[in-house]
Amino acid sequence: MDRKIGIIGYGSMGRMLVEKFLESKSVSTENLLVANRTLEKIVHLKDKCTVCESNREPAKEANIVFLCVRPGDMKDILLEIKDCLKEDSLLVSLNGSIMFEQIEQIYKGKIAKAIPSVTAEVNQSQTLVCYNERVTEADKECLSGLLSCMGTVIELPEQEMGMGSELVSCMPGFIAAIFQELCASAKKHTSLSESQIARMVLHTMVGTGTLMLEKEYSFEDVIARVATKGGITEEGTKVIHEQFPKVADEVFEKTLEKRRQTTIKAKESFEGTR
Ligand SMILES: NC(=O)c1ccc[n+]([C@@H]2O[C@H](COP(=O)([O-])OP(=O)(O)OC[C@H]3O[C@@H](n4cnc5c(N)ncnc54)[C@H](OP(=O)(O)O)[C@@H]3O)[C@@H](O)[C@H]2O)c1
Repeated sequence: MDRKIGIIGYGSMGRMLVEKFLESKSVSTENLLVANRTLEKIVHLKDKCTVCESNREPAKEANIVFLCVRPGDMKDILLEIKDCLKEDSLLVSLNGSIMFEQIEQIYKGKIAKAIPSVTAEVNQSQTLVCYNERVTEADKECLSGLLSCMGTVIELPEQEMGMGSELVSCMPGFIAAIFQELCASAKKHTSLSESQIARMVLHTMVGTGTLMLEKEYSFEDVIARVATKGGITEEGTKVIHEQFPKVADEVFEKTLEKRRQTTIKAKESFEGTR
């Protein structure tokens, strides 16, 4: 029997999973079940998968159930579906702030967390996963195989999912913000158009990443190759090394603090459910 996959919540993440599973043919039309609070948003999927009128339907039928909802909606959904999940089902939360400890107050079975990044859209996600103790090696292999349709899968301990998310899930935003500033500065000194500048920088970014990964260069190696002593590049790298550490430290101080607060809030939302 083929495994059935359930998706609860058809927002940004749920839609991406549905699209990727179907596009890669990792899940067949008959094995994919989707539910969403607003049913009208999923009726158009009726030729592509089973459109479910309640969350209990995918919970009852599927072997792997993805919860693609905001943290504030998680507790009620868990209470709604806990009794109809199969004994051997794997429940996968897409949310990083809700800890296994909270979910286990309601559902005591196999649980995983999976955090994809926006680069999944071009099959370049580094999807982070972690598991509770009940998940078997076979379950891990199955989930990892499924998620590999949108990139690579990295298993981390639960306590490292926060920093892991900063590095792969938030990083596209950080990279975009840093290069947005660099491009805006470049524009002040050139008649090249914004889009020309952006394209040149983006290709250089991709090329630099590929160079480093393929040749196993460190950041220092790249700098040493480009920034010759007394040369032009060195003037720029000196400024970055002098001024940027303060910004970089503040980025992580702020985001990790926000993450801590979100985890506390998520914990509070589960209080009284034991
Ligand atoms: N966005 C990202 O880049 C990203 C990356 C990694 C992880 N995550 C995590 O993934 C989760 C989903 O994020 P998202 O960005 O996809 O959120 P989203 O776009 O707001 O989508 C949430 C979906 O959940 C549905 N929903 C809410 N309550 C429901 C219920 N009781 N039953 C069924 N469906 C319900 C909503 O339905 P309606 O159509 O009625 O609103 C909506 O379609 C979050 O926990 C987030 O932290 C997000």
